[in-house]
Amino acid sequence: MLKEIYYPDRDFAKQARIKNMCEYRDLAGWAKEDYEGFWDHWAKEKIDWFAPYEKVLDESDAPFYKWFVGGKLNVSHQCLDRHLDQRKNKAAIIFEGDRGDKQVITYLELYRNVNRFANLLRNEFGVKKGDRVVLYMPMIPEAAYAMLACARIGAIHSVVFGGFSAEALRDRIIDAQAKVIITADGAFRKDKPYMLKPVVDTALEEGCDSVEKVLVVQRNFEDIVWIGGRDYSYNELIGQQSDTCEPEVMDSEDPLFLLYTSGSTGKPKGVQHAQAGYILWAQMTMEWVFDVKENDTYWCTADIGWITGHTYIVYGPLAAGATTVMFEGVPTYPDAGRAWKMVQEYRINQFYTAPTAIRVLHKLGEHEPEKYDLSSLKVLGTVGEPIDPPAWKWYYEAIGGGRCTIVDTWWQTETGGHMISPLPGATPVKPACATFPLPGIMAEVLERDGTPVEPGEQGLLCITKPWPSMIRTIWGDPERFKKSYFGDVVKEGKPVYFSGDGAVIDEDGYITITGRVDDVINVSGHRLGTAEIEAAIKKHPHVAEVAVVGKPDDLKGESIFAFVVLKEVDDSFGEEAELAKEINEVIAQEIGNIAKADTIKVVPGLPKTRSGKIMRRILRSIAKGEEIKQDISTLEDPSIVAQIQTCVIG
Ligand code: WT7
Repeated sequence: MLKEIYYPDRDFAKQARIKNMCEYRDLAGWAKEDYEGFWDHWAKEKIDWFAPYEKVLDESDAPFYKWFVGGKLNVSHQCLDRHLDQRKNKAAIIFEGDRGDKQVITYLELYRNVNRFANLLRNEFGVKKGDRVVLYMPMIPEAAYAMLACARIGAIHSVVFGGFSAEALRDRIIDAQAKVIITADGAFRKDKPYMLKPVVDTALEEGCDSVEKVLVVQRNFEDIVWIGGRDYSYNELIGQQSDTCEPEVMDSEDPLFLLYTSGSTGKPKGVQHAQAGYILWAQMTMEWVFDVKENDTYWCTADIGWITGHTYIVYGPLAAGATTVMFEGVPTYPDAGRAWKMVQEYRINQFYTAPTAIRVLHKLGEHEPEKYDLSSLKVLGTVGEPIDPPAWKWYYEAIGGGRCTIVDTWWQTETGGHMISPLPGATPVKPACATFPLPGIMAEVLERDGTPVEPGEQGLLCITKPWPSMIRTIWGDPERFKKSYFGDVVKEGKPVYFSGDGAVIDEDGYITITGRVDDVINVSGHRLGTAEIEAAIKKHPHVAEVAVVGKPDDLKGESIFAFVVLKEVDDSFGEEAELAKEINEVIAQEIGNIAKADTIKVVPGLPKTRSGKIMRRILRSIAKGEEIKQDISTLEDPSIVAQIQTCVIG
């Protein structure tokens, strides 16, 4: 482990909201001593309530915790209306298209655009409070308008990442029983148009009876099929809408959105977030972790299809009254200097991206940063996967000029916002380490029985007290919610939230995330369940059995490795490479290109215990090309291990 410690820049620290470790400890200590008082203070200070809440936290139906019970608010009001006095002409969103086209949308313009959008949904489409609206959108400002418009009228949005297939989209539409789909004809990537609407058409071919209307934003103006009475053009309808729209009065605990994510078993789960707690923490972490100031320009490179895009492109920055940059393209096009060029152009002050992107930009353009003026940068962030020390160092030196704190933020779709992260003006950082829980967040590294692990030992990363922005339930499946998150670790007789991640805590209390300990894999920061990929592969007619594991990968973090057992050896069946291609086509169809396997090996059988359980640890070792250290004598057929190894090497 690296021993170096990097201290925050002194001048930066002086003007930061949290200036040193004493201030951090005071805040964290306050939360420990008076948990509800701490949250009560911030909720009152930060949220523009329509009506006050009666109770800070209701634990009576644990783990279905309720926050700010009885309070009334509207999240779009928190993000827009309340800023109009102070900053109506400030840029809310700066958009850059793939082809370099630009738009600056002020708070007043954003407010009007959202209101028009909200009126369209409410008046033309009859969308009401509690209805579900699925978004299948590119990275364009209308995606943010759509999210905020839903929030304004109390509709529950469910954004589906544009890289998911028609099948995957259909599953999510059906699970949520969506009434309206908002999409675009497509958008641009690497100077070429790509399409989304045809995927929606395919998804809606079967089983989506709940869907009444499809709203299409025209972005690339490619030809698409329009279905009369179902499909409507946003561009045609929006001009007729009034630019004022009364916000729906929402209860603190009403659902704000669903976001589907992968678990270790079964189908993706619809993580359900609530109004008040979510927006409170989104705003507070913008202020504490990125320390965004009035004149700053902040850029998060995520896609709005993931939680990072929800909390740290749309809701957090806008609640904080910040200027958020939204980018349609990819950072490697037209070359690996694109992102740095944008940093120079917009004088970006906070830049937030994934380790995978850093590794790719480092590999493809090590010297690109030297060509640009990056001196505006103050805070650099990473999220999504553990960052390795070489990538960390390059980010710190080549991008941050040795001046910017790197905030390695650990959190999840389920946590809504940052949980463990350095504070840029306070925390002495150890490279590639998420450091300390944020004030108010009770993160601990535990054994299954709830005892804290010894320093240096690996344990389970848990949050031992409920927090405002936490997942409320899994849409339509409260039992699965309990089992998935409150079933594994019990502390002092009480089930606590277990994240699925392993972590190590050192003698100084620094927490380093070691990665998932369940059957979830993380490919380029995309979270995928091995069970989902296996279910897809099983749809190939020749596949009898399959096991998927993650294999460490220098660029992607993890790559997907599939071990496949065929039904019977069939002579008509050609090369393994041919089969692999076919299997990947099935995966692309069932889930999307992001879940394609990097390696597919045909093997004679899988390593199973006598009770039929597949020993994935052995497969992980084989995929890595490691010596097998595990005891294989408990396998039903220990000789299978050597046979699989031969197939993998051969
Ligand atoms: C999983 C959550 C949170 C937004 C993006 C991903 C991994 C996240 C870190 C980090 C090491 C990290 C964890 C976590 N992860 N941040 N800073 N260091 N690992 O959200 O798709 O819900 O995935 O991403 O394994 O459980 P997600």
